[in-house]
Amino acid sequence: MTNMSNTKAYAALAAKTPLVPYRILRRPPGPGEVQLEILYCGICHSDLHSVHDDWEATRFPSVPGHEIIGRVSALGEGVTKFAVGDVAGIGCIIGCCGECISCKEELEQYCEQGFLGTFNSPINDTEHTLGGYSERIVVPARYALHVRHPTGQLAGAAPLLCAGITVYSPLRMWGVGPGKKIGVVGMGGLGHMAVKFASALGAEVVLFTSSTEKMADAKRFGATECCLSTDKESMTRYANQLDFVLNTVSASHNLDTYLRLLKRDGTQVLVGAPAEPHTGPRVFNLLFRRRRIAGSLIGSIRETQEMLDFSATHGITAEIELIKIADINDAFARMERNEVHYRFVIDMESLRQDQTA
Ligand SMILES: NC(=O)c1ccc[n+]([C@@H]2O[C@H](COP(=O)([O-])OP(=O)(O)OC[C@H]3O[C@@H](n4cnc5c(N)ncnc54)[C@H](OP(=O)(O)O)[C@@H]3O)[C@@H](O)[C@H]2O)c1
Ligand SMILES: [Zn+2]
Ligand SMILES: [Zn+2]
Repeated sequence: MTNMSNTKAYAALAAKTPLVPYRILRRPPGPGEVQLEILYCGICHSDLHSVHDDWEATRFPSVPGHEIIGRVSALGEGVTKFAVGDVAGIGCIIGCCGECISCKEELEQYCEQGFLGTFNSPINDTEHTLGGYSERIVVPARYALHVRHPTGQLAGAAPLLCAGITVYSPLRMWGVGPGKKIGVVGMGGLGHMAVKFASALGAEVVLFTSSTEKMADAKRFGATECCLSTDKESMTRYANQLDFVLNTVSASHNLDTYLRLLKRDGTQVLVGAPAEPHTGPRVFNLLFRRRRIAGSLIGSIRETQEMLDFSATHGITAEIELIKIADINDAFARMERNEVHYRFVIDMESLRQDQTA
């Protein structure tokens, strides 16, 4: 191992190619920074979009991963937020300008300069950030979160760092709680967390899914009703019934399908980010009943800490399948085929022990 490549990782070297073992350089923590030995990293559909270059913005080599749970292994000068040995989480954001209106309001995800992402963000003319599919990572302590889940729940807590906060933030923003009947569309990583959070917040939750076999699980996660989104007759029953819809689907589809389900002044929030544009909405579905469509991007650092604390208090974690890093390409293929129940998490010990890496 040379000083130039002191950390094992897995990377995609070009678009739509399999991930392969890859060595990267992690520098020691500077002032204000923490170093984490990564224990677990969730696999978000955004990692797959990225490796496929679906958004035509991927920088290669790409080391994805932004649902990170690790143990603090070194502290830079002046860090008091953590001690060596603490468990900490890192999500999508590891920097922002700190000066724009959004940063001043602690909404780093909407930084006017663009936030610095855990992976795929430019650092200088030649380098970009490399994410959590790696043994260790160094980030400013300000962007590392306290994780209060017990040891046995840490793997399941990893997906909270992206899937969890991405659904928690709009649920809170749009006041989802007691007395509200809401729809969650799509039950993958984000969707199953949305069902859990919305029901923990006291709302009545209807899951709209294209997968009949997920319905029993949805009820177990807190949904009161489930509806097969491909069945027109079942869908008609929910017309004008919902206060809010959270749409997590990763593929393009017609937005009118769910807009029609909203009551007057209801909002459909899109968090899914498909490669191809959606179709709709028909303007009359907006005009009548003054309905709205909005988007939402992950969540702020402050809100992520709030979400992690809420999850620890309510015992909320993701339903996961723990995999070895060598199985990453199979996991991506299964995610493409919509065969994930409901989040893959990489046991990073498998990378440390990987002789080929
Ligand atoms: N806004 C943000 O900040 C943010 C953050 C993270 C991720 N994302 C994006 O959110 C999306 C979901 O991510 P994820 O990790 O939850 O993905 P995922 O685990 O793959 O789940 C996506 C779900 O969408 C539904 N779906 C997939 N293909 C479909 C199709 N062709 N027609 C209808 N439904 C389909 C499936 O649910 P059913 O089987 O229940 O139908 C599937 O489980 C991705 O596009 C991701 O990039 C956005
Ligand atoms: Zn993500
Ligand atoms: Zn800013």
